[in-house]
Amino acid sequence: MSAERLSTGRALARLLPFVRPALPRLIGGIVAGLLAGLVALAIPQVLQVLVDSALQEGDSSAVLPAVLVIVGLGVFEAVAILVRRWLVLTPNTRVEASMRNALYAKLQALPVAFHDRWPSGQLLSRAVSDLNLIRRWLAFGVVLLVVNGVTVIVGAVLLFGINPLLGAVFLASALPIWIVAMRFEKRYSRAARRSQDQAGDLATAVEESVHGIRVLKAFGRGPHALRKFERQAEELYGTEMEKARAIAFIWRWLTLIPDGTLAVCLVVGAVLAAQGALTPGELVAFFATATVLRFPIESIGFLLAFTLDARNATDRYFEVLSEPVTISDPEDPENIADPRGRLEFRGTRFRYPDAAAGTPDLLDGVDLVLEPGETVALVGLTGSGKSTLTALPSRLYEVTGGAVVLDGVDVRRLRLAELRRHIAMAFEDATLFSDTVRENVLLGSEDRSEETLAEALEVAQAHFAYELPDGVETVIGEEGLSLSGGQRQRLALARAVAAKPSVLILDDPLSALDVETEELVEAALRRVLASTTALVVAHRPSTVMLADRVAVLEDGRITAVGRHSELLATNEHYRFVISSLEDDDELDDEDARDAESGERDGDRDETSRRAEVSA
Ligand SMILES: Nc1ncnc2c1ncn2[C@@H]1O[C@H](COP(=O)(O)OP(=O)(O)O)[C@@H](O)[C@H]1O
Ligand SMILES: [Mg+2]
Repeated sequence: MSAERLSTGRALARLLPFVRPALPRLIGGIVAGLLAGLVALAIPQVLQVLVDSALQEGDSSAVLPAVLVIVGLGVFEAVAILVRRWLVLTPNTRVEASMRNALYAKLQALPVAFHDRWPSGQLLSRAVSDLNLIRRWLAFGVVLLVVNGVTVIVGAVLLFGINPLLGAVFLASALPIWIVAMRFEKRYSRAARRSQDQAGDLATAVEESVHGIRVLKAFGRGPHALRKFERQAEELYGTEMEKARAIAFIWRWLTLIPDGTLAVCLVVGAVLAAQGALTPGELVAFFATATVLRFPIESIGFLLAFTLDARNATDRYFEVLSEPVTISDPEDPENIADPRGRLEFRGTRFRYPDAAAGTPDLLDGVDLVLEPGETVALVGLTGSGKSTLTALPSRLYEVTGGAVVLDGVDVRRLRLAELRRHIAMAFEDATLFSDTVRENVLLGSEDRSEETLAEALEVAQAHFAYELPDGVETVIGEEGLSLSGGQRQRLALARAVAAKPSVLILDDPLSALDVETEELVEAALRRVLASTTALVVAHRPSTVMLADRVAVLEDGRITAVGRHSELLATNEHYRFVISSLEDDDELDDEDARDAESGERDGDRDETSRRAEVSA
């Protein structure tokens, strides 16, 4: 995705800051590996002495010491290899963990707009499989790359030393190997990046279908989702096959070329020996050395593939890590000395980055003041930008023009932690975490007392929480899916209330409640809202009644502000919007929602109550 592509070395060098703590052990591992490689190369040299002095010249006194030296060297090599493995295995686990923590911290810091753009499976695969690959490459790839590289170079020098002509023949094979390696790199790296991206897409598909399993089942779309998944899996399979073919290609040549070279060396060596230009010991040492170099040369293919994979994994990791955090604390933040909760939209403009060119801004200069303690209802057609507007004060999205001002301070001039202490939100799609009811409700509260919890649950009419198997200590399922939509919304509302903010922002918080429960919540909210400034996106006329004033959002601006009755009498657009809200009511949203999310035991009380209402 980056405009200019780094070289593989430069790309991998970005890992250095994370690898630094593990560096001593990694270097130790490389040294141990080098020792093992050099010892392996020393054995043929002893062999040469053995053959030439002991066997050739009939001096058998040198045989035993030479054999002992060879055995000793062999044992040393084995120990060095063990030490190498022991040194490199554990430290990289810590490297992987620290890289993963950095990624998680980054994901928390990145603005909502980033998460709008990035599918979760892509982030998941980067956090899991890419980092796993990088760890394995650091443990084996880097070390073998250095160790095998040095072994091949030292071995080639030794071959030259034994016989320059034979050495030259051997070295000549480097050219075809280099050509093969270059072709391989081109073929492989193309497929490798694609396969990692496709694996991320596949993860997204799994995540999405597990997430939406109820919808898929209810609409009988399971087989369709399966076919789509199979198609994606098939694509990934194709890419993996492409990689496998590239690897087969380089393996073939990396076996054939050294074999061919050795055959030529054998002929040349035999001729040289016949002419007396080469002793039998030198011939044995040459081929023994060449045999030691076999594995390091063959491993070029595998190490090249491994390194290219690691490079892509590193790219994918840093693509996320280098995303700019566009919404962050200001350099010299201001404080709100006396939080009163006066919220002002001052010529506020906003457009989504992916909005079609040539269209007007979604929010095109919103002017609205909420005085301390005042409750303002926000009314507008679906898609008019109400939810977007409510996300701006706490800087979930950044305004693209104008400002949002809290108690006289531009919200961009406040520390995010402070800002979000003053403003609490409840969203329409109530998100809960797999934790206890208590933790979910007190998520944003500094005051974790029992009274705060009880009061918040009372205001949100969430008494059902006490009737759950373990009361407020009940762990609710992932995303609260073990609760009904209405129950989730009430807990989310309780969470916003429990935070005791000076400004409460409720984006359609009661939409999933039945009329009766909504009335109870509203009565309780009215008590809370008396002391708190509130911006409430209204879904039903009854919510509008809750407000001191109503603001109408139309074409990206607040076109009218007033009391409900005034606006009804004077504002055409308001009448139109309100009548469309009333139509919505007749559809009885909760029935529709609960059918989608599936009825649960905890919801029985509501179900029967609704039955009475409709009876
Ligand atoms: N995350 C987003 N990225 C891009 N466009 C969005 C995003 N969220 C909402 N929109 C668009 O912005 C417009 C207003 O959405 P929203 O603020 O949710 O309206 P409302 O809450 O009034 O129904 C819609 O046209 C919607 O498609
Ligand atoms: Mg909305």
